[in-house]
Amino acid sequence: MEIKVYKDYQAMSEAAAEMIKNEMKQDNHIVLGLATGSTPIGLYQKLAESCAAGEISFQHASSYNLDEYVGIPMDHPESYHTFMNENFFKHVDFPKGATHVPWTDGVNPEVDCRAYDEAVQKAGGIDIQVLGIGGNGHIAFNEPDESFTEETHIAYLDERTIQDNSRFFDSMEQVPKSAITVGMGVIMKARRVIILANGANKADAVYKMVHGQIKPQVPASILRLHPNVTLLLDEDAARKLKK
Ligand code: PGA
Repeated sequence: MEIKVYKDYQAMSEAAAEMIKNEMKQDNHIVLGLATGSTPIGLYQKLAESCAAGEISFQHASSYNLDEYVGIPMDHPESYHTFMNENFFKHVDFPKGATHVPWTDGVNPEVDCRAYDEAVQKAGGIDIQVLGIGGNGHIAFNEPDESFTEETHIAYLDERTIQDNSRFFDSMEQVPKSAITVGMGVIMKARRVIILANGANKADAVYKMVHGQIKPQVPASILRLHPNVTLLLDEDAARKLKK
């Protein structure tokens, strides 16, 4: 795992955007794995600016998101479909149908999970996977557990995740308690992984991911077994790391 520390969120986001732009210049048919959350918003803004300036284009690219809540409508203001449209897709030039966010209405979740894995596989897998990390060490909605899950699945949100995500809802009760999420298979088979973390509230999770045991109780720790991971941090998220 390559670790890079930047002075602040802005610098971290710019560096992540440069990495993705460079990959896109080499392969404009790139398959991007995308994440939601506060962390990648700066990265998406930078990519949108580059697209508007004509430096990159998404016309031949496609994208697959990590996860989506179960139990709220697709057009809910806090759905990840809405998040991606508002923060990224509507600002860049993906062709219609090229962006994918997992979805289940909860009636046949197993069918929806299998279909998502098959779609990613049919696309040839992910070229670059963008990730954030949860305060509890989760990646996507792979929450701390007794074992790692390989396939796309329905996950029940951890107490800490519900609490962290309640900032987007009027109350804790309104936070969905389950989600459809890719498993470790899609993430670990990505050709390159870029994981971002900023802020002091991520310092413990980052420490455990980098220095702790590789175990499903710290889901992000599995990334140490991936051959091509870059961890981008701001100084606050990096402050507990050993020199
Ligand atoms: P955040 O979430 O970017 O909103 O901090 C990251 C995550 O939970 O994976």
